[in-house]
Amino acid sequence: MVKAIRMETPRGPEVRFTFDGAPITGHTGETLAAALLAAGIPAFGITRQGQPRLPFCNMGTRFDCAVRVDGHPLVRACLTDVREGMDVRAQEGS
Ligand code: FES
Repeated sequence: MVKAIRMETPRGPEVRFTFDGAPITGHTGETLAAALLAAGIPAFGITRQGQPRLPFCNMGTRFDCAVRVDGHPLVRACLTDVREGMDVRAQEGS
C-alpha cells in the first residue's frame, strides 16, 4: 500500500484584493487563479451562452480563466500573480 506523504508548504505574506467587490485574501507568490479557487469563487466569468467559466488548462492557452483586472479585460488569472489592492471582476461574454 502506498502511503501518502504530505509536506507543509510555506505561504507568502497575505495580500488583499477584491473580486466583484468582495474582499479576498491571497498570498504573495500565488497566481490569481489559485487565490480565487482557494477562496471558493464558483466562476471567474460567464460565457456568451450563460455558462460559468473556470480555469481549465492552468498554463495560459485557453483563456477559460479570463477576468478583468483593474479595468483591463481578458487577463489570464492562471498567469497573473496576486497583488495587493487588485480590482478583479468576472469576465462576461467571452
Ligand atoms: S486556465 Fe487556461 S488560460 Fe488560464
